[in-house]
Amino acid sequence: MASIIIVGAQWGDEGKGKIVDLYTEFADAVVRFQGGNNAGHTIVVKGEKTVLHLIPSGILRPTVKCVIGNGVVVDPAVLIEEIDALKKRGLLADDSQLAVSERAHLIMPYHRTLDALREGSAEEKIGTTGKGIGPAYEDKMARKGFRLCDLENPGAFRSRLNQLLTQRNERFIKIFGIEPFDPKSIADSYLSMYEKIRRYVTNTSELLNGLRLKKKQILFEGAQGTSLDVDHGTYPYVTSSNTVAGGALSGAGVGPTMIDGVVGVSKAYTTRVGLGPFPTELEGKEGELLRARGGEFGATTGRPRRCGWLDLVVLKHAVLVSGLTGLILTKLDVLSGFKKIRYAVAYEHKGKTIRNFPSRLDLLTDCTPIYEETDGWNETLTAIKKTSGLPVAVKSYIKKIEEFLGIPVIHLSLGPQRGEDILIRNPFNN
Ligand code: GDP
Ligand code: IMO
Ligand code: MG
Repeated sequence: MASIIIVGAQWGDEGKGKIVDLYTEFADAVVRFQGGNNAGHTIVVKGEKTVLHLIPSGILRPTVKCVIGNGVVVDPAVLIEEIDALKKRGLLADDSQLAVSERAHLIMPYHRTLDALREGSAEEKIGTTGKGIGPAYEDKMARKGFRLCDLENPGAFRSRLNQLLTQRNERFIKIFGIEPFDPKSIADSYLSMYEKIRRYVTNTSELLNGLRLKKKQILFEGAQGTSLDVDHGTYPYVTSSNTVAGGALSGAGVGPTMIDGVVGVSKAYTTRVGLGPFPTELEGKEGELLRARGGEFGATTGRPRRCGWLDLVVLKHAVLVSGLTGLILTKLDVLSGFKKIRYAVAYEHKGKTIRNFPSRLDLLTDCTPIYEETDGWNETLTAIKKTSGLPVAVKSYIKKIEEFLGIPVIHLSLGPQRGEDILIRNPFNN
């Protein structure tokens, strides 16, 4: 019996969705523990693409329980849309497959508006997904948020929303010059949406602890990535939650004693969407080539992703802050055809060598990566089924990554589809 946390080791979009879908073969439950519908997790099975924003990537296998934990911020309209789309395809036929925490906070319409207003200001823009994530977490921490369980008591919900918006509307009008929000219509709409999702809402901490007692295997599915973590990422160019492994505990309501392993997912190169420092970014032709070959366009917003070489300083930081015991390397197939492959092993700043991921934004913005390089390969990798079949140059690249990070690469992804991968060491067999 093992429970595993999977987190993104870079700036998100590492291919977590694909990997989680593969691992659900071994899991009884898959849990999202932070973020919201800023996430876009892509799974491709027999050519059919599914992009999930809120529902865990275990949903394609009917026997796997999918849990949205208390640490997630839920936009009920998006949840309903996602449920309906899955049901149309014959998935989620049994409603008991999905559980949503009663303690999860709601994304409210004014959160989305605030997000958009800030993104419209040159000083405040950080390139968010515009889904209201930041403002929803702000309200949670400020103790001004609404949780799903609040919708169980319509009278109290209406009254608190009325009170909050009376204060807020004044500011919205004065500062932003926007139309006031109508508490009645928001309450009507949220209470009516709640009727559609109520059957899924429950105490998910109890549910997960109960599964553990029954010796079930649980997979915790991170969203975003380590460098977007609000504490450990490139602050303030981050998302508003803890994307690191520790976030799985508070965000799912389980203790560290439940966790048997933590694995990180990384692309064989690096991408980032939105603003903020990205030391190994390639702005010229090589970056464009990576974007074109890797299909690097956001799964949530469609924005072109910024692309660059693998940054081992970033990955080393991810190993530390999440206690990674293994690395899953995705999109190795995309690197076929490059003569030389570069990877950053340190940074240089004003003549000084920096070996650890800096906390200071100015430093991170101004530093230049120190690269090492290795031979590229021309072979197409996608159909390879065993590590022994990999070109020597690929094996050598993987070895360099392992030596630098001090953890093994346990799984290779060689294409977007289920089946295009080589599992080296199954993290569930601890
Ligand atoms: P996530 O947010 O971490 O789940 O990743 P996304 O789904 O946003 O982005 C990853 C993209 O790469 C998706 O389009 C996947 O279908 C695709 N993908 C995942 N693994 C591989 C791989 O090994 N090779 C290739 N070529 N594409 C992959
Ligand atoms: P998945 O789970 C990549 C980025 C946004 C922006 C910053 C803050 O698919 O890997 P937010 O809307 O969260 O307030 O935006 O975080 N971002 C992501 N980048 N993948 C994601 O999720 C992301 N979710 C948020 O682009 O830079
Ligand atoms: Mg994504």
